[in-house]
Amino acid sequence: MKAVTAYWRSIDPLPGVNDTMLMKSDERSTNAVFSHDAGVLAERFPRSFVWGVATSAYQVEGAAHEDGRGDSIWDEFCRRPGAIKDGSSGERACDHYHRVAEDIGLMASLGVNAYRFSLAWPRVQPLGAGNWNEQGFEFYDRLLDGLLERGIAPYLTLYHWDLPQSLQQGGGWLDRDTVGRFADYAAEVARRFGSRAAAIATHNEPWVVAILGHEAGTFAPGLKSRKSALQVAHHLLLSHGLASQAMRAQHCTAPLGIVLNQSPIHPATDSPQDLARARLDDGLTIRWYMDPLLRGRYPEDVLAFLGEDAPQVAPGDMEAIRQPLDFLGINYYTRNLSGTEAPLGHVESGKEVTDMGWEVFPGGLSELLMRLQADYRLPPLYITENGAAYRDRLVDGRVADADRIRYLQSHIASLADALESGVDVRGYFVWSLIDNFEWADGYTKRFGLVYVDYATQHRTPKDSALWYQAFCLRARAAAGGGSRATTGQGNAR
Ligand code: FCB
Repeated sequence: MKAVTAYWRSIDPLPGVNDTMLMKSDERSTNAVFSHDAGVLAERFPRSFVWGVATSAYQVEGAAHEDGRGDSIWDEFCRRPGAIKDGSSGERACDHYHRVAEDIGLMASLGVNAYRFSLAWPRVQPLGAGNWNEQGFEFYDRLLDGLLERGIAPYLTLYHWDLPQSLQQGGGWLDRDTVGRFADYAAEVARRFGSRAAAIATHNEPWVVAILGHEAGTFAPGLKSRKSALQVAHHLLLSHGLASQAMRAQHCTAPLGIVLNQSPIHPATDSPQDLARARLDDGLTIRWYMDPLLRGRYPEDVLAFLGEDAPQVAPGDMEAIRQPLDFLGINYYTRNLSGTEAPLGHVESGKEVTDMGWEVFPGGLSELLMRLQADYRLPPLYITENGAAYRDRLVDGRVADADRIRYLQSHIASLADALESGVDVRGYFVWSLIDNFEWADGYTKRFGLVYVDYATQHRTPKDSALWYQAFCLRARAAAGGGSRATTGQGNAR
């Protein structure tokens, strides 16, 4: 670890960032030209702003069957022939479970003041009900203490997609009982960690769990039914509500919230059909989650569209879902085009894309935040994920990922636009600290600021890590210095 720190200190604080990186935003952004200067960019944020990095348990931990951890639906899904592009799994991943001290050191060297990570439910409760696994809790105990010692605020997520497999055998999220199991798990985590966490999010991206996991079938548990998917989405939202209540009953002092993936949906053409399709896709991806959480009801137009596929909602469910939110996490990667000839995810030819095939569209971040601000009474927001996969190559000990630096700069600039327009955003987390297991894409996509050689588990900071380090240092200097572990704030409503 020391060697890495020394290497970082020995280099120019703004490596590779020069005039050639001055980039134009797309036509929808309010700012025509983004600043290339990390210092100028950093000064656009308040002193209390949280600058972090993010990961999730199954994608980095490895040690999938050590110290009593139970099987998760992702362990099971990875065994299915053809489910994962490179036939891999999270069995070893980045071996973070054994290298946690090194990885905390990496974060400290980066100069971030927050780390967003998830707990693996099957690590702390192998069967998803009944006995707690003390060895599992000890790992997170060490992680929390290690972070706090380095002035890095821990942002916990309870569920980043790794349901205990034994609950799946009983129906998983389609079974209403799982909602109660999740609330029990949340209460136990809050009891143990509620005073040390800077914030606790119940779910990460319920849309992905419901739709990719139960309608498209491309993610675990790999089911293909729209009706089931919508029922799962309802149970996830309900479990968020009941878990929030259960954690508050434990006198949890950490701010509580949820993380949603959101992309502005733009009509592929100006035709009335495409406008209607885009409005519906906006309903299915954004309003289906925001409306119940913040208004206590599902959007009427989407319910009408779903017809028989709409979920069964028991009396009291909507009130239970609409719990006070102390914060809302938004994961932003791209915009989405939508139209009768353009299935969601379609990208116009000629547009700049990342290695995921996702369009680089920084202006969409400020557009999205301003729209949410206009449409809802929002709690404080955090950008809980933003980042890009590129085909990184390690050459002579260096990864020259100028594309990722440009991606981060332009999105942080777009975030500053939103802030300057009055949106209450408190923090930003790069996805991801390190290259990791990218779900159905296995290890074929690299999102990290830090390159991982999976054969040796050697970590090499990419140029983007150096840029983010310089940026965080400038942000702190602009903010008056100090490496405070910043915590979230109470409910603004
Ligand atoms: C998000 C997930 C995260 C990672 C990024 C690329 O949808 O939350 O785990 O896979 O996409």
